Amino acid sequence: MAIVALAGSPSDHSRSTALLRHVLARFPDATPRSEIVLRDLPPAALVRADVDHPAIRRAREQVAAARLVVVATPIYKASYSGLLKSFLDLLPQDALRDKTVLALGTGGSAAHLLALDYALKPVLAALGARHFLDTVYAVDAQFTPHALHGHVAHDDVVERAERALADGPLPLRVATDPLALAA
Ligand SMILES: Cc1cc2nc3c(=O)[nH]c(=O)nc-3n(C[C@H](O)[C@H](O)[C@H](O)COP(=O)(O)O)c2cc1C
Repeated sequence: MAIVALAGSPSDHSRSTALLRHVLARFPDATPRSEIVLRDLPPAALVRADVDHPAIRRAREQVAAARLVVVATPIYKASYSGLLKSFLDLLPQDALRDKTVLALGTGGSAAHLLALDYALKPVLAALGARHFLDTVYAVDAQFTPHALHGHVAHDDVVERAERALADGPLPLRVATDPLALAA
């Protein structure tokens, strides 16, 4: 598995998940990837830290197999989502060693622009991550609602994601239309 994508929003029509999917769509179809929508994991297993639950075991295996880990989260109370923390707590120590990590975040305002750096990255580093691509943070006003995809990120956000991915370990597809990519 080349890529694992962690969608850390509890919401329907999530902006951070839309951004995550845009990033995923930047890779050629042949690039193996898995998307873990954390809100779809069994809640009792998450809350009880039941690492033997089949869904949790499978998610841990998907992370273990990935070369690039893309983590997307909304900013909640000046930090990343509790849902994401519940999942990260279930990963083994060093789960992210030797992987490249890209953190994506969305917030209501720019006030918590640095939350991914001061709150999320230390946790990812504690899990062994050492190679981080440039963080991409966007505010709600930088998304347009979309009937099919929930939201579509504005061009300036897409461009920042492109620049971050250009430093990544995997080849990208040649495509520029955000709606085509999100399809
Ligand atoms: C419970 C809750 C707490 C939030 N706290 C913050 C916050 O501290 N700072 C901020 O900028 N936005 C905050 N927001 C706004 C969300 O971060 C923002 O709408 C984000 O884009 C939602 O991402 P999503 O659509 O992927 O769920 C909060 C939203 C909720 C529901």
